[in-house]
Amino acid sequence: MCGIVGIVGKSPVAERLVDALKRLEYRGYDSAGVATVHDGVMDRRRAPGKLFNLEKKLDGEPLAGLTGIAHTRWATHGVPNETNAHPHFVDGVAVVHNGIIENFSELRDELTAAGAVFSTQTDTEVVAHLVAHYLKAGMSNREAVLATLGRVTGAFALAVMFRNDPGTIIGARSGPPLAIGYGRGEMFLGSDAIALSPFTSEITYLADGDCAVITAEDAEIIDFSGKPVSRARQISQATAYVVDKGNHKHFMEKEIYEQPEVISHALGHYVDFSTNRVSKVAEGIDFASATGLAISACGTAYLAGLIGKYWFERYARLPVEIDVASEFRYREMPLSPSQAALFISQSGETADTLASLRYCREQGLKIGAVVNVTESTIAREADAIFPTLAGPEIGVASTKAFTCQLGVLASLAIAAAKARGTIDAADEQAMVKHLAEMPRIMSRVLNLIQPQMESLARELSRCRDVLYLGRGTSYPLAMEGALKLKEISYIHAEGYAAGELKHGPIALIDENMPVIVIAPHDRFFEKTVSNMQEVAARGGRIIFITDEKGAAASNLPTMATIVLPNVNEIIAPMVFSLPIQLIAYHTAVFMGTDVDQPRNLAKSVTVE
Ligand code: F6R
Repeated sequence: MCGIVGIVGKSPVAERLVDALKRLEYRGYDSAGVATVHDGVMDRRRAPGKLFNLEKKLDGEPLAGLTGIAHTRWATHGVPNETNAHPHFVDGVAVVHNGIIENFSELRDELTAAGAVFSTQTDTEVVAHLVAHYLKAGMSNREAVLATLGRVTGAFALAVMFRNDPGTIIGARSGPPLAIGYGRGEMFLGSDAIALSPFTSEITYLADGDCAVITAEDAEIIDFSGKPVSRARQISQATAYVVDKGNHKHFMEKEIYEQPEVISHALGHYVDFSTNRVSKVAEGIDFASATGLAISACGTAYLAGLIGKYWFERYARLPVEIDVASEFRYREMPLSPSQAALFISQSGETADTLASLRYCREQGLKIGAVVNVTESTIAREADAIFPTLAGPEIGVASTKAFTCQLGVLASLAIAAAKARGTIDAADEQAMVKHLAEMPRIMSRVLNLIQPQMESLARELSRCRDVLYLGRGTSYPLAMEGALKLKEISYIHAEGYAAGELKHGPIALIDENMPVIVIAPHDRFFEKTVSNMQEVAARGGRIIFITDEKGAAASNLPTMATIVLPNVNEIIAPMVFSLPIQLIAYHTAVFMGTDVDQPRNLAKSVTVE
């Protein structure tokens, strides 16, 4: 996580570095810092907390200089205070780092024994000390960085700047992403193309094991042994988007209300609404001959995958193996090249998801990537890219990316079912028709439920714990509801399969425990209502999210009933996502938390 940026420029860089950090703040926002080198002086400004603290500091104490590096941090080693904020300085060497140096403790002991004095709790500081150590031993800047790269293990993207050479920055990548940007008479380095988008769209993505020596005129790319390597330049599609909330109070709210629009773009890519058939794009993987499908992802994207599993198995009769990527990557599960694999990620940079992809690649599986950022590492390493087309998602809690992931997975499941002959043309057309209705229904639902949200949020804000229950595809949705609530309101919440209630969680039910039951009137409805009865019998307070048929079929007392229109089961997960997202959003707003940048989280998780 963390975002890094560097500029070797022809005009002052400090302000532009901060501008680039703003585009990287989604990667972490515990602290930030900028360093420049100017007239033989290397100087820095650092501040704990959000970027505006750093901006304030720079207003009072500006930094001159045409070359600089900057960092926004998501703390791994050491508390997020000013001392631990990057850039780290040691004897004329400045370093910013994204990732984790796994052997930092041994290196720190070794360097301390050799006389180094450490001033921070970070793993990164060993990099600055090592480079400084090799410089003292007589190496050139480049040799010192390469020698350092030979000593450190772990995942890292680094940028190193030198007091003795104000015209050069050296970058290196082993894991987390790093891109070079080509300007006119100036060059850039950044964690992603979006950070560099105001400066240039001409980009080279470094590969793992690449080191880039950047000057104002050019970039030389070498491997860690110093041998030149060649990497393609490309025109990035990342636009210098305006970070704008429109009329909304938070990005999360804006992104919730954008869903009808973005999901219609996403669907339009995979289905042909004029014929109600899936388009060729959705056939990018040979589902017909696949003997199984492996799916892996993290967090909300994993829960989208879990809903996808229900669809692929039910409609396409394709067995799905799914796990969270942090487990998937280490399970050593037997896989065969006759299976296909799908990796789901908004950012396309999640370290565990990427490692799972690489595991499947080694096993010879064909790889599909359902990603929002199509220039991301996961997209670049896949055989087939399935873009989610949600547009930039700024709120840390995923909303529109999730429903677009679901839209894409539903389309792929229909394509798989068609390819495998488990549905006929009429079924395909009927299913696509339901998908086509979704944007309109979502729009209606957003208007319909809005008036209920505030009073519900007031009630929930008084609770310590909340339980979410659902069956079938509503079970992953229950987990998603709980995840959304806990990450932005900090209220403890759990999502359970409704049928599991009596196997443990029922012990928690009392008059203080709200239970949010997600139950469209589907084939599980009666069973879920029985579980609700068990909750009601123990004094639990039920918030019932159902449809018109469901509301008419149940007369249990509830704390609130949210009634959605009756919808086909294939679009129910997307439509029922809306109340779940709004409940979490309004509860967090009511509690006054930082909705868009909740504590301890980051939008892109590039470390294990
Ligand atoms: C929760 C959330 C996270 C992400 C997870 C994976 O609201 O956003 O759980 O879904 O960190 O991130 P990506 O999709 O970028 O791989």
